[in-house]
Amino acid sequence: MSKIPRHVSIIMDGNGRWARQRGLERLEGHKAGVESVRAATEFAAENGIGFLSLFAFSEENWMRPESEIMGLMELMVGAIIGETSTLMENNIIFKVIGDKSRLSAGLNEKIDEIERKSSVNTGLTMIIFLSYSGKWDILQAAVKYAEMVKSGELSLDEPVSSDFFASLLSTAGIPDPDLLIRTSGEQRISNYMLWQSAYTEFYFTDVLWPDFRKNDFRMALETYSARERRYGKTRDQINNSI
Ligand code: FPP
Repeated sequence: MSKIPRHVSIIMDGNGRWARQRGLERLEGHKAGVESVRAATEFAAENGIGFLSLFAFSEENWMRPESEIMGLMELMVGAIIGETSTLMENNIIFKVIGDKSRLSAGLNEKIDEIERKSSVNTGLTMIIFLSYSGKWDILQAAVKYAEMVKSGELSLDEPVSSDFFASLLSTAGIPDPDLLIRTSGEQRISNYMLWQSAYTEFYFTDVLWPDFRKNDFRMALETYSARERRYGKTRDQINNSI
């Protein structure tokens, strides 16, 4: 692994299928997936990855059966609270990104508390995308922009730079993902970081999320290492700039 990506993001998929294959309830798949979250976080910290983001619950996931949503939320609150001391011991900065207005007051309180506590850390930044969608993110940035124009803070005569618009996204201050891993054989972006993944390298694996372990993460990084990122330029331009 010669190139270590600064930001790795994972669409954790296949929990339901993992459970079904074993004749278990879907929630059992999500519970098993928490162990994979732990393994991925450890691997990221051990290998000097700066940012690890995990797509845990999409805006569209609110359409799932109430019982699954409740179970998943409880599971995540439990895991987040239960892991706080481990996050602190391992110098991990913890952040949640998404439409927090749809989360319960209790969950928001816990998230705020852990975000505040871990903000003094200086190691890996772990980001959980919760109640998130890429279209939601772009829309909320557009609304912020419109409000700035309305209040006179910005003028429509000034051109809008891509960097400025990115500063209005919910991911402001976080580098765009270099590598996006999706498990379970699905090959789509599912309304995840649409703006931020403009030049992201994608890696798809058939491994179901509850089975994803450090070795699977290592394989993704090895594949990434062998990729040539050109950002629309020619190979000669890239080679000459090194
Ligand atoms: C997708 O599998 C997975 C989810 C919707 C939930 C992922 C959440 C966790 C693993 C818990 C994470 C915990 C923390 C603390 C971040 P799916 O249900 O869509 O699987 P399927 O496609 O096989 O049905």
